[in-house]
Amino acid sequence: MRDSVRELTVDLGERTYPIVIGQGLLGSYDLAPFVQGQQVMIVTNETVAPLYLESARACFPGKQVDTVVLPDGEKYKDWQTLNRIFDGLLEKRHSRKTTLVALGGGVVGDMAGFAAASYQRGVPFIQMPTTLLSQVDSSVGGKTGINHPLGKNMIGAFHQPEVVLIDTDTLRTLPPREVSAGLAEVIKYGLIRDTDFLCWLEQEIASLVDLDPATLVEAIYRSCACKADVVALDERESGLRAILNLGHTFGHAIETFAGYGNWLHGEAVGTGMMMAADLSLRQGMIREQERTRAVRIIERANLPARAPAGMTPDDFRRLMAVDKKNVDGSLRLVLLRALGDAVVTDQVDVSQLDATLRAFCVASDGADV
Ligand code: NAD
Ligand code: GLY
Repeated sequence: MRDSVRELTVDLGERTYPIVIGQGLLGSYDLAPFVQGQQVMIVTNETVAPLYLESARACFPGKQVDTVVLPDGEKYKDWQTLNRIFDGLLEKRHSRKTTLVALGGGVVGDMAGFAAASYQRGVPFIQMPTTLLSQVDSSVGGKTGINHPLGKNMIGAFHQPEVVLIDTDTLRTLPPREVSAGLAEVIKYGLIRDTDFLCWLEQEIASLVDLDPATLVEAIYRSCACKADVVALDERESGLRAILNLGHTFGHAIETFAGYGNWLHGEAVGTGMMMAADLSLRQGMIREQERTRAVRIIERANLPARAPAGMTPDDFRRLMAVDKKNVDGSLRLVLLRALGDAVVTDQVDVSQLDATLRAFCVASDGADV
């Protein structure tokens, strides 16, 4: 089994760390060498705990392993729930030498990472992502945080993990809708930076939807390689890293409008990437054929092709105004100059943006608006 383990490195000087990808790693891979002290706090949620907590514990032989089990859901990615991690750490008297472990999807990963960034002014943490989205995106790169009622991921910190351990067997228990949401972020890498990967995805997307194990490992490896490359070039998002947000400005607006958790993050990103491709076409940056290819691969991953019913162009404009990429009140978007070539731009043609918003909005009775 170990023969099939793939490894790559996020190259960040003294914060460099490995990503280990393979089947059957939970329960057998020894992570104790990544833990400096004796204490480990596994943070997970009530859905993942019954499935994988015992196997995760077994990765830390000889350590004191405590656990915090959070309620499940994006709506709990807030201050109150974050505080339960601090309660657990303090009740069990975890010191500055403790290591936090995020066992779960992106919600658990972002929250445990933020807790690690701030507990006693910062302690190490390990990512054990168990959703496709978290395996290809959120567990890598050190963005951590929680939501605010007025905007998603508005409170947080950069804090890199010690190691990311990706056991692709965990995806077997993932609901199909969550698989599609993860595929949105996989497709994103092809669209922003890697046309070879995009062509490969066009061949393999059906196998990925069906969770073919070898195809999954390859897709996760190539996605993590792309993300590791971008993060190594621009860890704190002073420029290039923002291309990882293709579709996210539209997507965050959708998530906030729908109410956290009603649309999955990856679903909103999928629709958002279609909108970004549509606007790129309208602004003369890509051709019709490229827009069609982008939309088609997203649709084949079973992702929604329209904004939530009842969401209007005005809702988009209001919610997009609080995006973190905006500078001095001016909207900045990630658009496509070509397939495999994304750019962050404030050159947004307002009338073309309106046309895109209208094209993707449907009234609550199903009619176009
Ligand atoms: P999630 O964490 O809510 O997980 C999705 C659902 O799957 C949850 O119900 C979870 O309990 C369940 N689950 C997890 N693993 C499972 C498994 N193996 N089997 C069965 N069920 C399982 O959602 P997500 O899509 O993983 O992550 C979305 C979050 O990630 C959002 O909050 C988003 O903002 C964040 N995110 C962060 C970054 C980053 O760079 N930090 C990047 C992308 C997304
Ligand atoms: N998911 C976007 C980033 O990590 O920068």
